[in-house]
Amino acid sequence: MKKKAWQFIDHEGTFRWDAAADMRSLYFPLCNSAGLMSSITPDLHGDIRSSFNSFLIEPVSRIGLSNSKVSRNFWIHINPNKIWSATGVSKDSQLQQKDICSFKAGLLWQSVNRRNPRIGLASEILSFIPASGEPVEIMQVTLTNISAKPIRYTAIGAIPIFARSAHNLFDHRHVTSLLQRITLQKFGLTVKPTLLFDEAGHKINTTTYFVLGIDHSGQGPQYIYPTQAEYSGDSGDLEAPEVIYQNRLPSRKLISQGQEGMGALRFRRSALKPKEFHSYIILLGINDNSLKIPKLLAKFNSPAKVTAAFTATKKFWTGLSSEISLSCAQPDQENWFRWVSIQPTLRKIFGCSYLPDFDYGKGGRGWRDLWQDALSLIIKDPQDARETLINNFSGVRIDGSNATIIGSKPGEFIADRNNISRVWMDHGVWPLLTINLYINQTGDLNILLTPISYFRDHQLHRSSLRDQQWTPEKGKQLKTQFGQIYEGSLLEHILVQTLVQFFNVGAHNCIRLENADWNDGLDMAGQHGESVAFSCMYAANLKTLCALLSRINPQEIVILKELKLLLDTLNQPVAYDNPQEKQALLKRYFAAVSPEVSGDKITLSIAGIIADLTKKAEFLGQHIRANEWLKEGFFNGYYDNKLQRVEGRKNGIVRMTLTGQTFPILSGVANDEQIRQIIKSVNTNLRDKKHGGLRLNTDFEAEQPDLGRAFSFVYGEKENGAFFNHMQIMYAYGLYARGYAQEGFRVLNTIFRMAADSTTSKIHPGLPEYFNNEGRGMYSYLTGSASWYVLTTLTQVFGVNVEYGNLLIEPKLVREQFASSKQISINAIFAEKRIEVIYTNPRRKEYGQYAIQNITLNAKTIAADINQLRYLIGRADFLAAAGQKRNTINVLLD
Ligand code: G1P
Repeated sequence: MKKKAWQFIDHEGTFRWDAAADMRSLYFPLCNSAGLMSSITPDLHGDIRSSFNSFLIEPVSRIGLSNSKVSRNFWIHINPNKIWSATGVSKDSQLQQKDICSFKAGLLWQSVNRRNPRIGLASEILSFIPASGEPVEIMQVTLTNISAKPIRYTAIGAIPIFARSAHNLFDHRHVTSLLQRITLQKFGLTVKPTLLFDEAGHKINTTTYFVLGIDHSGQGPQYIYPTQAEYSGDSGDLEAPEVIYQNRLPSRKLISQGQEGMGALRFRRSALKPKEFHSYIILLGINDNSLKIPKLLAKFNSPAKVTAAFTATKKFWTGLSSEISLSCAQPDQENWFRWVSIQPTLRKIFGCSYLPDFDYGKGGRGWRDLWQDALSLIIKDPQDARETLINNFSGVRIDGSNATIIGSKPGEFIADRNNISRVWMDHGVWPLLTINLYINQTGDLNILLTPISYFRDHQLHRSSLRDQQWTPEKGKQLKTQFGQIYEGSLLEHILVQTLVQFFNVGAHNCIRLENADWNDGLDMAGQHGESVAFSCMYAANLKTLCALLSRINPQEIVILKELKLLLDTLNQPVAYDNPQEKQALLKRYFAAVSPEVSGDKITLSIAGIIADLTKKAEFLGQHIRANEWLKEGFFNGYYDNKLQRVEGRKNGIVRMTLTGQTFPILSGVANDEQIRQIIKSVNTNLRDKKHGGLRLNTDFEAEQPDLGRAFSFVYGEKENGAFFNHMQIMYAYGLYARGYAQEGFRVLNTIFRMAADSTTSKIHPGLPEYFNNEGRGMYSYLTGSASWYVLTTLTQVFGVNVEYGNLLIEPKLVREQFASSKQISINAIFAEKRIEVIYTNPRRKEYGQYAIQNITLNAKTIAADINQLRYLIGRADFLAAAGQKRNTINVLLD
């Protein structure tokens, strides 16, 4: 029998999914802006952490969710023959199998209900992390007597405490347990290790981990078992603890310090009459010492207070998910979109690590992820992003590469989290994409003139040279020959990123792949590989720069003298069709800017720069169209380390990547005829017959040691041919942007359908990084595809865009989207005001057949009988007519 899928039960993203209770690797995220992060499964496995070095519960990978015995537990001891785990995790599988479970979750909480008729009890366990910012996960257990007789029982909350760094999972696991110092408190216990163990230099630990508990009468536990040794005993374990099964009280001896900690809180024996219920509150947290435990207890020590915190938490996340939200669409899609729209915030908090699938990394986000996540954050609150955007630009090196990790504090950059010297060739693309969106949203062109420093470390010449003289003490900012920190405008930084890459070409005159591009898995063609795909994007960026330059006010700009070398047409022109000449020029530039820059500036006319950039953009686009279009009807996207063309038909196999097609479309390099052929080729070669999704590549049927690790993954997983959502969505974005709305819709809609088919995708609502061969969603929540999904839906599908500060309405909705109603709408934010754009399509016309006829803003007509595909509402006009709270824009399509 097919198991039932999740079902939404309101309009705020809340869903019910009873089958979830049997899915052991199904995890849910809990977090708040204070940085406490949990993963939690229906049976309460999963870990809790505030950083890579501070885990309250032992770190766990997806496989560990099913196999590990470490979990949050809550025991009920009625008599020696009736011992039950209210989380469903005990050795007595026969008894636990009698549990009748239901599962509910919402933004951002989960609630698991278990009824066990043999025991006569039902438990409801609510888990959330309060949005008010306390570093605590709240677990509220409500026990109800569902039998006809009174039940006497003892409740024991049980949380195994790891209290240290993920490093110590295997490295010095025992030694670091010797550092653990436990203090019993009235309501529970704290564990504070003496040291942060690190042989390179131990540090005094300041972090405290705690587990506190309050029973239904407001009292703390009667007894505490503070160590796992005592709790489990010699013959037991976490699923069969001796103290529970033998009903043993803790020893009265002094606590044995230096052991694995245990937050096992035994509450006073109590009784429940039929239908009566009792609530227990367990607080699990990590304290960097700014928190006072009594204050925390005072805030959460009663069911009423927990309910208040729960309501506020729901309100916070629901509010966030409402900022850009759909209404009048299919209710399921509307609800699902709420989950997608909070994902960029989840990635801001978790980074690209920490949930069970993401069993790599140490927190933080990489360069390209950070910029792309900013896309959806900017469309909500561009002003808030300004400082961060400026700060991020100081991670750019003068050779056009950049620090890959940006810390939480301004100016905090890390060259590479694994201390490997490497550069990704796509990194120079994303900042301009993001800043361009910001400028369009705000009209704030002046941001481009903001002076900021450059990043400097031991890596020179795009990491092909190491500066042996450089030490971190010299400071991570580029200096002039006179030892002063050098600052150039943000615009100069973008010019550096773009111009360097124009000259950084391989033998085929496309930009070098270096250590990979967007596809992390193409990492074995460092010497000779080239990425045609991202060459397209640099061509597009050269054009975007021209568009921005033509709008900025001064007619001249001041830039670093050495940069004029790269503006070769203003200087000594090089032959663009000659890769050697380009490389030679780049070498001269690198030599001129390292180890320091002159610090001298020159003034150049904007017109001259635009002419130079235009020539470059045209050359690059033309070069790709002429040389990389294959007779098979699609673009070649790459060259490998043996200088071989990667795509096309070879030995009877069609080798094709979606990336290789997405970027020629998105960048404007592909012409219309080429786009039409690409769509056909994509549908023939990459569309999966069973699931309907698009694969990242065809099956190359061989490993590719001259291209990258991706092809060593099994086909259909990760970067080797999975249904990789990030690329599918960027492809859809490109299609919409170029006017192929039906095809774009098909891609987006298939993704939604695959995610929403939860009996196959086996994930909670949301967008995963990819779907595998079986259609299973992998790497939930923390994916850049969410930001692109939100951006594409708002600016392309619904066509609510902002052009240099003015509101642009340009819908690309297809007939199918009006299926159930003639009206659909989207909520968004423009000029710091909430707007709802409602489209009415009375005759349900298809995209391409309708045009905008009338527009009203708050019932006032602002355009009548216009019969246009797009309409610009001036910012000033909008503000004059806009109300304080919600503003309704009605658009008639016919
Ligand atoms: C992930 C990475 C992203 C990379 C992509 C392809 O995508 O985070 O940097 O470009 O894989 O290798 P995401 O998880 O954001 O969908």
